[in-house]
Amino acid sequence: MLSLAVVTTGLTWATLLIVRRTAEGRVQREIREESQNAMVTFQVLQHGHGVALLRKADLLASLVTMRNGDPAAIEDVGKDPWHSDECDLMVLADAGGRIVALHTTMDEFPLATAQEALTHALKERSSTGWWYSGTRLYQVVLKPFYGVPPTKNNLLGTVIVGRGIDPEATELRRVSSSHVAFRFGNDIVASTLPLFKEQQFAAQLGAGPWKEQVTLDGERFFTSAIELTAGAKPVSIIVLKSYNDSLAYLEKQNQLLGGLGILAVLTGGVLVFAISDRFTRPLARLAAAVQALEKADFSYPVVAEGSDEVAQVTRAFDRMRKTLKSDESLKHQLEEQLRQAQKMEAVGRLAGGVAHDFNNLLTIIKGHGDLILEKLQANDPLQRNANQIEKAANRAVSLTRQLLAFSRMQVLEPKVLDLNALVAEMCSLLKRLVREDISFTFKAGESLGRVKADPGQIEQVIMNLTVNACDAMPTGGKLIVETRNVCVDEATAKTRTPLLAGDYIRLSVEDTGHGMDAATKERIFEPFFTTKELGKGTGLGLATVYGVVKQSGGCIWVESEPGKGTRFEVYLPVVEQTEDQPSQESAPKNEAQHTGAVLIVEDEEAVRELAAEFMKSAGYTVLTASDGMEALEVAKRAGPIRVLVTDIVMPNMRGPELAKLLKASRKNLKVIYMSGYLEFHKADDEFLEGSYFLQKPFSRDSLVSKVTEALKQNRVAGSTTRQLV
Ligand SMILES: Nc1ncnc2c1ncn2[C@@H]1O[C@H](COP(=O)(O)OP(=O)(O)OP(=O)(O)O)[C@@H](O)[C@H]1O
Ligand SMILES: [Mg+2]
Repeated sequence: MLSLAVVTTGLTWATLLIVRRTAEGRVQREIREESQNAMVTFQVLQHGHGVALLRKADLLASLVTMRNGDPAAIEDVGKDPWHSDECDLMVLADAGGRIVALHTTMDEFPLATAQEALTHALKERSSTGWWYSGTRLYQVVLKPFYGVPPTKNNLLGTVIVGRGIDPEATELRRVSSSHVAFRFGNDIVASTLPLFKEQQFAAQLGAGPWKEQVTLDGERFFTSAIELTAGAKPVSIIVLKSYNDSLAYLEKQNQLLGGLGILAVLTGGVLVFAISDRFTRPLARLAAAVQALEKADFSYPVVAEGSDEVAQVTRAFDRMRKTLKSDESLKHQLEEQLRQAQKMEAVGRLAGGVAHDFNNLLTIIKGHGDLILEKLQANDPLQRNANQIEKAANRAVSLTRQLLAFSRMQVLEPKVLDLNALVAEMCSLLKRLVREDISFTFKAGESLGRVKADPGQIEQVIMNLTVNACDAMPTGGKLIVETRNVCVDEATAKTRTPLLAGDYIRLSVEDTGHGMDAATKERIFEPFFTTKELGKGTGLGLATVYGVVKQSGGCIWVESEPGKGTRFEVYLPVVEQTEDQPSQESAPKNEAQHTGAVLIVEDEEAVRELAAEFMKSAGYTVLTASDGMEALEVAKRAGPIRVLVTDIVMPNMRGPELAKLLKASRKNLKVIYMSGYLEFHKADDEFLEGSYFLQKPFSRDSLVSKVTEALKQNRVAGSTTRQLV
């Protein structure tokens, strides 16, 4: 900006300097021309005077001739006012050139001086000239007069008339604005200059050669001169044209130009400042915003005015910053979710591991309990104890299931479902769960799509959510269960992370209960997190819901505020398949098919023995092995084997591997896998197609009926009626 101001100032002053120089040159020329004009004017004037004097001289010569050269005629003419108007000096000389009469209307003209001038003039034979009386300069005309006949030899004398130049040259001053001076020899004898300047001028003229410019009393003059007469003491007329008037005008012009220059510089400066400020301020603001952003300050105000390029860039920056900010908060949110997910997974693994061992133990407890109950008489006092064991075992089984559900290690049996039908079927059960002071509404969504999930588990989800809602409304309220088709777009998906865009069935359970604060909301899906008093809640309800929904490929979302109720939304992806129809086949009876042996492979001895006992009691021929290697040995030696019942997780060889090896040589072998849980991240394809699955802990009935089912159903290889998830 400074450089711009300097350049503007420089250019302005340079322009002014050029204008000034041009004006000065022009003034010089004008002065020169004016002084030449003045000179011409003075010459014309002098010439006019000369003509008038000549006429006077003629008249006077005639008069003197008439009076025969009488000097008194001069005296008479001098006294006659009519005659003396144009001339101030009248001189009469005789034929010898001697002055005989002299008359002046002004101050005295010494006779000797006049005689000297006349003698010189006659010698030079000049008819005009300039005489100086010592105090005044006269323009003179000489006219000889003759007797009769008027011949050269008959010369009677000479008449001289002259016109005195006023020492102040007043007459000349009137006709021109210039000064004029008459120089006689080296003296100034008349001038329009004030006395002091006249003296200075005379001194300068006497000092050296002719100068075109002189300075008198501080005033500068241009001078030009013309010699009127030559001789020892030449007479010349000098015109002095003052620079001052013109220069005063020029000075005024200069001042005006200077003022204009300053004004131009100031205006230019202001304009430059305003323009640069207009351009630089938004840039400076933008730069400050960028610096603030570098320091992760997203709240720094970004101002964009107008629609110029800088404003557009600023707006684009602001948009970019907003995107960055939302990305940043999304990143934090995702990090938080990841942390939460990792925490849940770790807890899940732990729970799964515990549940695995529990299942084996519970199989033994429950199995033996069953056996005891079977063997006891109805009125046996031990029956009550056995029942208690059975009850406790059942509770433990349900707890283990919940843990497995949460850790997504539960074996699901997904089906294509109509959620409306499922909820409608549950309604009678739900109505029993919901107290009378709570109004329950089910809003079934129209033309609801299908989802693929384990119906038993989804029932569990609805139940858990309903129970929680009822617990949150101790003094009554409203409970709404709703199903609906929803198409989640990208924008909505962002508000419900980790939900992805797509088509879903949304199952919502909404209550008008006490709601929850942010801290509670953050932890509700953690297993064993409960706000209920000791003994009232295990804190596994929502953990189970979470696990089931996740394992079914869905998402769960909760909205709640203290005092404003709670709304849980479960999103399950829509599937195109049609609803699975319940199997029409009759339930297999627990009858032994005595056509081959059942090989039971289980590393946990107690479980193995129990399973063997169950099968034997149902009339089956049973072979047992503690691991895969042993099972292969046993199979080699044994006769036909119809069913393989094997644990999945075993040392040395896993159940599925064993099943594959045995199946290779026994096409009709039925395979039943026993497991309490589904292992994390294990591929489904390790299980043989058409095989069965038996959930641990199993009872006598569930084991025997699974074996019977397997034997009865003549499955075609490649088709499955159940899937392992
Ligand atoms: N609808 C709801 N309104 C208010 N708070 C709720 C609601 N649902 C769950 N919660 C809160 O979440 C906590 C955890 O719920 P969760 O179902 O996992 O366990 P619980 O209900 O306490 O015990 P459990 O279900 O095992 O009997 C509850 O203790 C409660 O504080
Ligand atoms: Mg609960």
